[in-house]
Amino acid sequence: MIRATRPLAACVLAVVMAAPTLVQAQSKAGPPIALRIDAGAPGPRIDRNIFGQFAEHLGTGVYGGVWVGKDSSIPNTRGIRKDVVEALRAIKVPNVRWPGGCFADEYHWRHGVGPTANRRKTINSNWGGSVEPNTFGTDEFMDFVDQIGSEAYVSVNIGSGSVQEAAEWIEYMTADPATTAGQERAANGHPAPYKVKYLGLGNESWSCGGAMTPDAYTDEMKRYARFVRNYNPKQSGAEAMQRIAVGPNQGDPAYTEAVMAAQKGHDWAWNIEGLSLHSYTTGGWPPSYASQGFDEAAYAKLVQETLGMDGLIAKHAAIMDKYDPEKKVPLVVDEWGVWLAPLEDTNPGFLAQQNSLRDAIVAALNLNIFARHADRVRMTNIAQMINVLQAMILTDKDKMVLTPTYHVYKMYLPFQDATFTPVSFDAGTYAQGDVKLPRVDAIAARDAQGKLWLAVTNLDPVRPASILASVSGTKAASAHGQVLTASRVDAVNTFQAPGVVTPKPFTAKAGRDGLELDIPAKSIVVVQLEP
Ligand code: AHR
Repeated sequence: MIRATRPLAACVLAVVMAAPTLVQAQSKAGPPIALRIDAGAPGPRIDRNIFGQFAEHLGTGVYGGVWVGKDSSIPNTRGIRKDVVEALRAIKVPNVRWPGGCFADEYHWRHGVGPTANRRKTINSNWGGSVEPNTFGTDEFMDFVDQIGSEAYVSVNIGSGSVQEAAEWIEYMTADPATTAGQERAANGHPAPYKVKYLGLGNESWSCGGAMTPDAYTDEMKRYARFVRNYNPKQSGAEAMQRIAVGPNQGDPAYTEAVMAAQKGHDWAWNIEGLSLHSYTTGGWPPSYASQGFDEAAYAKLVQETLGMDGLIAKHAAIMDKYDPEKKVPLVVDEWGVWLAPLEDTNPGFLAQQNSLRDAIVAALNLNIFARHADRVRMTNIAQMINVLQAMILTDKDKMVLTPTYHVYKMYLPFQDATFTPVSFDAGTYAQGDVKLPRVDAIAARDAQGKLWLAVTNLDPVRPASILASVSGTKAASAHGQVLTASRVDAVNTFQAPGVVTPKPFTAKAGRDGLELDIPAKSIVVVQLEP
């Protein structure tokens, strides 16, 4: 993310509350759009890690959102809130990236282990200047990922730490209990080595992570890739820790070139198993788009910007293909999502925003783009899991509400580890002022049980779409699933009204020429097709 100023220095951003002019009335669908699913031409696996999450020590993302402390009156298991765990279990979060973000390059793990009373209180210099109590540290994070049934993606501090500090951290997590590091972990309550599946080698080293040139970063990164070892005996073969290097900022190819050239020339002593890409949908910098009460012009511009993810991935994938034609190194989009103006009366450094039906549409469109690039994009992390940016969940003390984006992740569960199946259709055009966008988007996939799934997004906020779906090589006689929509594209769920944007049952009709799906304006539909 290119910033004019550092986050802490960012001034309070005015929330642009444009007069809501979004039309609620529905116009006519027009002639049906023929959509053909090519069931005989299976593509790559849509890795479940595409549905990963990101939890940074930022605002109330961790403190309040995940961690309330063991003595809290909010129901918790060892300090971790039960309602949030239950909600996250339901969307089968494949991995959680932690502790940052920019925070990671100033994080010192030793501050966050051992008896709580002895933990150092520090300042979160990146995010709002709040006091970081370090009560949620390594053991609490590993407990959290265990409770939600996920994998740990730990980002080590390259910017202000050392190779030794990072090596000792992963040693603490993974070493045999017979070693001093393992004994320390056991004394802190966990004799068995933890599983650290993913290791982030720094964060945004082109900016908040140390403002390094691509070559300077590459040299540093190799030392971390070499010496930060995972000692867990169960992590060999397919379970081996995957090292993810810092990659490009948006469209800048410099890191992609430098890191991939180095990877191509690596010897036995080091390697990487992923290259990170960060790209937010911001509508310019600093982000000024409102998370509620926006008009249709703002909606169309933001959706147009988010669709740029496709070209961005294609650009970096083409560079990666030069060095790695076998696509061994995945592109890991480990920060993405809508970054909007902070809510009024909140600390601007806490990146608190509401989450509307528009954001759910943005999420679906991005997930579709990732699925279409599944041969190269095998992991992504939406920013961020709770209370920050495009969150799954919002909390306020004991209250919790699921966002429209959460519902998309739940509806897309059948796509985790499913086989991409090509679809062809003429998307038509949604026009708003100068902005012209495809009116609908769709992906299909076959799950491990052989069931065929179709996801259709109608991004036109006014016009329903009539889809006539056919499946090659097989017959689909019916389809049922869910639809996510609301009366307005800026509709949100609140603690007082949590069910404004929630999935409802959806059924397609069998017609003479195929399945007829009546897709409402501004909606996401996911259905299973049945013979
Ligand atoms: O997600 C918020 C911030 O965005 C992260 O800390 C940083 O990596 C990025 O710029």
